[in-house]
Amino acid sequence: MSDDRPSLAIVGGTGALGSGLATRWAAAGYPVILGSRSAEKAEAAAREIAAANGAPAVRGLDNAAAAQAGDIVVVAVPFSNHDAVLDEIETAVAGKIVIDATVPLIPPKVATVQLPPHGSVAQATQRRLGDGVRVVSAFQNVAAHKLREGTAIDCDVLVCGNAKEARDAVIALIEAIGLRGIDAGPIANSVAAEALTSILIGINRRYKADGAGLRITGLAGS
Ligand SMILES: NC(=O)c1ccc[n+]([C@@H]2O[C@H](COP(=O)([O-])OP(=O)(O)OC[C@H]3O[C@@H](n4cnc5c(N)ncnc54)[C@H](OP(=O)(O)O)[C@@H]3O)[C@@H](O)[C@H]2O)c1
Repeated sequence: MSDDRPSLAIVGGTGALGSGLATRWAAAGYPVILGSRSAEKAEAAAREIAAANGAPAVRGLDNAAAAQAGDIVVVAVPFSNHDAVLDEIETAVAGKIVIDATVPLIPPKVATVQLPPHGSVAQATQRRLGDGVRVVSAFQNVAAHKLREGTAIDCDVLVCGNAKEARDAVIALIEAIGLRGIDAGPIANSVAAEALTSILIGINRRYKADGAGLRITGLAGS
């Protein structure tokens, strides 16, 4: 059933966002590999997701081995650890699509936009990994706990990347888990998606919302 589907490695796959995405993709029939600093921790998290979903095609490895094993690699780690993770996976992701969901949140002021001096996380990832890697940014504005819950999520996902075919591939992965991916253009535009996360966190606090999301209106079918 999943033969024609790419395998998806999630670096930081034991975390809130990574495990949420893994749960959804596993339920949709994609082979999923969770990455962690600890292979044992990844294996345990994979067993939990597999058992909950009746989806045996979930396994766990250390981050570098997971990145090596996946056709497409997702990076879902705290900003503070992002550079170190890129060091770990750089060789393994050569020639692949890398989906970067990392948001430049700097505690304690996570509801204030604090973009890195070099522009955005995803742009830095593209520069760091080079043109042989197609970096696509996505998922910065999706509440992780809603992915785990498995119910419908009322939001769109902005998708940025320099290669249109890579953006399209990521949009297909987003649609596979019941969300709408919006082609938001080149990787330079990721700065907007990354900044919006702090705004949504602030909205959640001020309005006591359980995971505010974004909707793009005015599109055919929306
Ligand atoms: N949570 C959300 O709702 C959400 C939504 C959109 C985007 N994001 C972004 O997605 C990324 C991941 O978010 P998250 O909430 O999933 O994060 P998280 O649960 O705090 O961390 C994800 C994983 O990263 C590893 N990790 C945590 N702290 C680390 C450290 N200091 N050094 C090295 N590795 C560390 C851990 O994996 P191991 O211990 O297994 O190595 C952890 O399971 C962040 O950039 C976040 O801003 C989050």
